[in-house]
Amino acid sequence: MHAFAVSGKGGTGKTVFSALLIRELTKKGSVLAVDADADSNLPEVLGAEVYGTVGHIREDLLKKKSELPPQVGKDVWLEGKTHEILSENRGFDLLVMGRPEGPECYCMVNNLLRRIMDMLSENYAYIVIDSEAGLEHISRRTTISVQDMVIIADGSQQSFNTAVRIRELAQELKARFDHMYIVLNRMKNSDPERAEKTGLTYLGSIPYDPEIEKACYEGVPLPEHSAAAESVQHLLEKMT
Ligand SMILES: Nc1ncnc2c1ncn2[C@@H]1O[C@H](COP(=O)(O)OP(=O)(O)OP(=O)(O)O)[C@@H](O)[C@H]1O
Ligand SMILES: [Mg+2]
Repeated sequence: MHAFAVSGKGGTGKTVFSALLIRELTKKGSVLAVDADADSNLPEVLGAEVYGTVGHIREDLLKKKSELPPQVGKDVWLEGKTHEILSENRGFDLLVMGRPEGPECYCMVNNLLRRIMDMLSENYAYIVIDSEAGLEHISRRTTISVQDMVIIADGSQQSFNTAVRIRELAQELKARFDHMYIVLNRMKNSDPERAEKTGLTYLGSIPYDPEIEKACYEGVPLPEHSAAAESVQHLLEKMT
């Protein structure tokens, strides 16, 4: 199993990149797509149905706590619930984290998401995690046992600053990624030198693509063929 996590500042194109990467990987093997953003929109860009979320499983777990059998039975229960919410699509399955009800922290949903990913990982050749913006997912270690961390930047200084912070935090927490890449997205002129200044490995650029913008504007799945999809195909070749 080879896992990719996609991260970066808000609005830089994490979800678009994740979706295009997922589509490319389905040509090579089975893929588990994970939407680990509480403000979920990976299903939409992939055109996938959602039947439930990890947040829903957690609510069920709290409601039925006293009725559930001891540990062994609990794992079987969790496996059953996971298969109820797993969205099966052509070439990939999709798992959505969702958001927990109520004001409590994400810890429980996050722990549950990790357990489910561990449980499922052996069934797939690839996992792609679309993370939420910022640094939280690194501190919460949703990205545990990920080989390739891909940080998206859109050319703004802010997006480079976020990329640097993610690299520093990963080092601080001794997160063991094989590679930490930076990808420039939606740029009219790519700027590898500035990308490399972040201390990350510059993987390449995805051009501004009006077809991607149009699909997102209309809220429809990304087109099967586009200039952006072609770039992601090349970026994947460089990674593997
Ligand atoms: N290569 C591209 N060409 C043109 N437009 C793009 C491209 N990539 C992304 N966009 C536009 O940027 C918007 C934001 O992209 P996306 O939703 O992937 O960002 P994100 O980083 O996942 O955002 P969030 O932090 O909210 O999760 C999209 O709605 C789309 O309109
Ligand atoms: Mg997103």
